[in-house]
Amino acid sequence: MWGSNAALLLAPIPSKLSSSLKIPYHEPSYGAAEERALIKALRAGHTGGNGTITMRVAEKLKAMTGAKHVLMTPSATSAMEIALIAAGVGHGDEVLMPSFGFVSQANVIISCGATPVFCDVDPGTMNMCPEDAERRITKRTKLLFPVHYAGIPAKITAYKRLAKKYGLLLFEDAAQCLLSFQGNGARKRHLGTFGDAGCISFHVTKNAGCGEGGALLLNDRGLAEVCEIVQEKGTNRSAFLRGQVDKYTWVGPGGSHVLSDLLSALLEVQLKRAPAMTARRVKLWERYHAGFEELEHLGLVVRPGVPKGATHNGHIYALRARTSAEQDDILAALQKVGIGAVFHFQPLHASPFAQERLGQQQELPITTHAAETIIRLPLFEGMKAAQVDLVIAAVYRAAISD
Ligand SMILES: Cc1ncc(COP(=O)(O)O)c(C=O)c1O
Repeated sequence: MWGSNAALLLAPIPSKLSSSLKIPYHEPSYGAAEERALIKALRAGHTGGNGTITMRVAEKLKAMTGAKHVLMTPSATSAMEIALIAAGVGHGDEVLMPSFGFVSQANVIISCGATPVFCDVDPGTMNMCPEDAERRITKRTKLLFPVHYAGIPAKITAYKRLAKKYGLLLFEDAAQCLLSFQGNGARKRHLGTFGDAGCISFHVTKNAGCGEGGALLLNDRGLAEVCEIVQEKGTNRSAFLRGQVDKYTWVGPGGSHVLSDLLSALLEVQLKRAPAMTARRVKLWERYHAGFEELEHLGLVVRPGVPKGATHNGHIYALRARTSAEQDDILAALQKVGIGAVFHFQPLHASPFAQERLGQQQELPITTHAAETIIRLPLFEGMKAAQVDLVIAAVYRAAISD
């Protein structure tokens, strides 16, 4: 009955992993090359924002993602804020986004004076459900803003159709999606490049990172020109740096959303390593996935779904327990032996701030269930296959004894 996993189940798991054996949920992968790049940039005086190194990194990202315009930012949150301001999203506008999403997305919408309208998710991918989103479209809706959770695509074709049908903007939160794609052959495109704007995060927990960092991906030249101004404190400094104007001045609304050359130097090395780091993560992801097949067949957990035509980047491996109580038990059992498994997004529609600011929110049953049952397992580039096997065995034990 246990097939290939019998050995795993019977393998001895120490009652507590020794500190050297502890398996964190994430470990950054910075080495000597990153150290050298940082020191070189520092010694050469490349510390300010939007400098030579940042421009090089933006070009590299264009090549990696196929986006026509890339702005490097201090975070994905900054990238979202730039795009919302540049697109004129503001008072009276509604923005459709998943409740199972990251809090900064809701915050930037509110900061612009617009209202986030929370949508339920598809149970397989935990990405915003287009049918649910369509039901929530009103005369005030201005923007569709799905998240590609775990580097796995939301139903982007459906969102493109909705955007066209109702005349809406489409932004993508592709924070977790470096080197994730949707489509085959000539139609294969990087997540974050399907709509009017997309953001990527280079936070320390992402597949490639620089501690804190982000990028805004754009295809439309007009929108990109306004975004450049918003990014540079409402000035035309970017045009000045290109030699297109001889002085720069205040030309519109904006903030301070540039990435320092120092962090870009670190990111430049990480982007070079990104294909190999991603391949490694995908391998570990697949090991988890194969390892949990039998547990899923037994009906004890649900594995993540990957839609047809998706090439994901192995960013997160998240199982779903059957119930909230089982989520608690499995997380506690894993943490007890030193495995850093965690829950993930808490539904935004049910958060104290949403209730206070936006009033009583409609129940979103799939989102609530997803948040109450998700188990995010350790996954990082430097993780060993044997560590994945230990985690799998620990989950089997916890799930079966429940
Ligand atoms: C889905 C999603 N969106 C946005 C963000 C924000 O990214 P950053 O920390 O770069 O602002 C994150 C960060 O974890 C995220 O997971």
